[in-house]
Amino acid sequence: MEDLGAVVWPPEPVRTGRLVLRASEIRDRAAFIELLASPEVHAYLGGPRPRDELEREMPGAPERWPGSFVVDLDGSMIGQILLRRATGHRRPAAAGKIDLGYLFLPRAWGFGYAAEACAAALGWLAGALPGEPVVLTTQSANAGSMRLAAKLGFTEVERFEAWGAEQWLGMRSPATPSG
Ligand SMILES: CC(C)(COP(=O)(O)OP(=O)(O)OC[C@H]1O[C@@H](n2cnc3c(N)ncnc32)[C@H](O)[C@@H]1OP(=O)(O)O)[C@@H](O)C(=O)NCCC(=O)NCCS
Repeated sequence: MEDLGAVVWPPEPVRTGRLVLRASEIRDRAAFIELLASPEVHAYLGGPRPRDELEREMPGAPERWPGSFVVDLDGSMIGQILLRRATGHRRPAAAGKIDLGYLFLPRAWGFGYAAEACAAALGWLAGALPGEPVVLTTQSANAGSMRLAAKLGFTEVERFEAWGAEQWLGMRSPATPSG
């Protein structure tokens, strides 16, 4: 995976009805550690990272690269959206395409925040890099993620075995201009 490269970064904050999407800042460090050390968040992602390792190695403003959005609710980080170039993706249909990932703190699940934030990030992407399809890989057993992918308009390309589980590869076509 590579970052998005030639986009304006940090971006102007993206505002939705309830959330702000923005680049990472120093004040997000504790929330990033919570996110990356959470067994619940990483149940379908190969397991969490050890908290002491994260405390030691996490930089001041973590994950500050083009395409990594902090999702902010009332001034606090509740999740991260990752838009990356899937160079080296093991499935040819996804290789080189833009890939969407999402990680939210468990206390923020079940309110529609992930759907609201991902839709806004995809809207931002359509302006920053127009006309590109977006891919998404998730374990098919990850029911919440599968529901979210469908809500966002991703449709199945294929299922494949990797990392000891069945994976679902979805794709979302770029919006076509109307009128
Ligand atoms: C995947 C993940 C982001 C989904 O989070 P989520 O909160 O379930 O997703 P949504 O934002 O779509 O919210 C949907 C739920 O909010 C509910 N909801 C409550 N208020 C709502 C509102 N105002 N608007 C929309 N939905 C609302 C919906 O009914 C739905 O509930 P349901 O799942 O019981 O049907 C979250 O589980 C997560 O971070 N998992 C760990 C990371 C991960 O596995 N990522 C996938 C790999 S990239």
